[in-house]
Amino acid sequence: MNAHSAGRILAENKVADKMAMGNMGLNFWRSDLHFGVMTEQQKNSPPLKRIGVVTGGGDCPGLNAVIRSVVIGAINRGWHVFGIEQGFEGFLYPDRIHRLDAKSVKGIIHTGGTILGTSNRGNPFNLEIVENGETKTVDVSDRVVAQYHALGLAAMITIGGDGTLKIADGLAKKGISVIGVPKTIDNDLMATELTFGFSTAIATATDAIDKVHATAESHERVMIVEVMGHFTGWIALYSGISGGADVILLPEIPYRLEPIKRKLDARWQNRRRFAIVVVAEGARPEGGEMIFNAPGAGAGAPRLGGIADQLAEELYHYTGYETRSLTLGHLQRGGQPTSADRLLATRFGAAAVRAVERGERNVMVAYRAARIVTVPLESAISNTKNVPLDSDIILSARELGISFGDE
Ligand code: F6P
Repeated sequence: MNAHSAGRILAENKVADKMAMGNMGLNFWRSDLHFGVMTEQQKNSPPLKRIGVVTGGGDCPGLNAVIRSVVIGAINRGWHVFGIEQGFEGFLYPDRIHRLDAKSVKGIIHTGGTILGTSNRGNPFNLEIVENGETKTVDVSDRVVAQYHALGLAAMITIGGDGTLKIADGLAKKGISVIGVPKTIDNDLMATELTFGFSTAIATATDAIDKVHATAESHERVMIVEVMGHFTGWIALYSGISGGADVILLPEIPYRLEPIKRKLDARWQNRRRFAIVVVAEGARPEGGEMIFNAPGAGAGAPRLGGIADQLAEELYHYTGYETRSLTLGHLQRGGQPTSADRLLATRFGAAAVRAVERGERNVMVAYRAARIVTVPLESAISNTKNVPLDSDIILSARELGISFGDE
């Protein structure tokens, strides 16, 4: 048992004890509220103006801007806001739930990460725990729902990507009111044209591609830059075009080595004796599989990674050109959010509060045709948004001579 799991179990037991006592000992709670049980008096009293806010999944530039916007927007409308730390798991621990005021969100619009903390392993329907030295998964979703009611929340603003929003949808089906806010650097949620975090990720990736040009040109090498994006190629496509890549490889277009060699040969013949290849972590050769560098411990999802290293090796043997690979990894999730992400995040946060105020439930705020709208939560999580192969961006890239490794 590692220290983290041990601590978690210890804390879990403490929670169970306190739950049994019906006294969570939190000074911001109504003293007459018992864990998950409403008295007759509470049922007849006017609803409390309380909102919860939680961030789940991977961290992402702009999360703090959303939290700030939710807190200030809600307070200005007479709501109290409670921040749940470390994803949904925070609902299980009383010391991980805090009242947020304007002071708690001071000076964070420009910062990366999330002041609430986050987790992509804290799925309450499938929570990994260690019991008697054995790792197992348990369903603690009822406890999350009970805690939500005990706090007297009218809605839970859930900021997350597809995984987090799927969990929120499950909780919504158990009686929690959810307003989702789409977060992911991957920009892969079907129901929204844009997610915050994407702009910062492509800015970081473009900057890195700009920088590797120096080595590529000086050493006459093929530099292969692996970017994130999960099963989609949005980051690769946008940063590749902006960074002047010669070859861009996307999960949506399986590649072959022969067209890539043709592109490289053409450059060398034109005395442009270097090349930049941008490859999405989910890219794969025709007839081949995506590469995962970690199987995914317990309830965690397998992690993509390693395609750039593999491609560098294969391309060197196939073409004879010197290759080097570079994986940008979590650099793309860090740093200050771009102004575009801060703005989108702020608009999403304020719109989520307006949705609560209007009494909307189980919806997600979304960006469509330059406006913020709400869409049913279920539709938000039903499909992955892939790069459309007939888009003008792909067409334009091809017209500029960029190879996608397919023709
Ligand atoms: O969804 C965001 C993302 O950064 C993906 O692009 C990437 O595949 C994954 O998360 C990495 O997750 P982790 O932080 O668990 O390694």
